[in-house]
Amino acid sequence: MPDTTNPTNSPCSPSILVTGATGNLGREIVGRLQAHGARVRCLARDQADPHPGVEWVVGDLTDASTVREALVGIDAVFLIWPLLDSAVASDLIAELTTAAPRVVYLSSTAVDDQAARQSDPIVQVHADMEALLADLQPVVLRSETLASNTRGWVQQVRAGDVVAGPEAARTAVVDERDVADAAVAVLLAHHDQLDHGPYVLTGPEVLSRADQVAHLGAALRRDLRFQALPTDLARSRMLADGRPEPLVEALIAASVWRPESHRITDHVERLAGHPAGTFARWAIDHASEFI
Ligand SMILES: NC(=O)c1ccc[n+]([C@@H]2O[C@H](COP(=O)([O-])OP(=O)(O)OC[C@H]3O[C@@H](n4cnc5c(N)ncnc54)[C@H](OP(=O)(O)O)[C@@H]3O)[C@@H](O)[C@H]2O)c1
Repeated sequence: MPDTTNPTNSPCSPSILVTGATGNLGREIVGRLQAHGARVRCLARDQADPHPGVEWVVGDLTDASTVREALVGIDAVFLIWPLLDSAVASDLIAELTTAAPRVVYLSSTAVDDQAARQSDPIVQVHADMEALLADLQPVVLRSETLASNTRGWVQQVRAGDVVAGPEAARTAVVDERDVADAAVAVLLAHHDQLDHGPYVLTGPEVLSRADQVAHLGAALRRDLRFQALPTDLARSRMLADGRPEPLVEALIAASVWRPESHRITDHVERLAGHPAGTFARWAIDHASEFI
């Protein structure tokens, strides 16, 4: 594995396109790239608060014309695919092939290279995207469940002491700030330093949802607890919250079928130069968001 812990800016700093820049992970990546002196362009469907020095292209990953506009003059792309359908990625792949930037693709640790079919639709999309991007020789970062997903519990934590939701497999939840550090190290690495992975980015301990709720409670000095909901009730609550049905079915399938993962790696440390942080630390740092 290459040493990417000290990314050295070339005399002319690289131009980097960040997709999903308004999201939990993308926001972390934009700030870090700016701190390293990279020229940053963001692609999102709506422009977030303008940051000085960040250029925005408002558009959709499935829209060839905005993707083409976003790729002009770009050296490297941080690419996410937040859709449930890889068939609509063909225009994106064609534009990337023409523009030929370096691609860093954010995939999932749940991708099983030996499986003919993946465990659920979300993992299947990531496996399909890895295959569709293969000719571009992307660096693939497979991320474990992001700690920032627990922001979805903010309303429940503010309303009471119980966080209810579908049960999910225990995984080595990873702090999105660590994934951002790893991604930025790869985006800024010299070409000859790059190993294409896949890197498997995990946190340092395997946690259940009940464990995460307990850590949030400790950070808030409250006795919070998790209540696993039966599948039908979890489905109807997510639909009532206004989530689109295909997403709800994909999330239900992920909670029912995704296998438990006890895998813990040191890939965050190898790429970012520091060990992965704990969820307890994430909860302390973000407790104020839940008040
Ligand atoms: N969360 C996890 O546990 C996890 C684990 C492994 C991999 N991943 C991958 O990492 C990605 C980022 O995770 P996250 O938690 O940061 O997600 P997030 O907070 O939900 O952000 C998703 C981002 O995708 C953008 N987006 C959605 N649809 C788009 C479209 N059609 N065209 C352009 N942009 C679009 C959103 O922009 P708008 O402002 O326009 O909505 C937003 O910036 C996920 O999409 C997933 O593929 C996530």
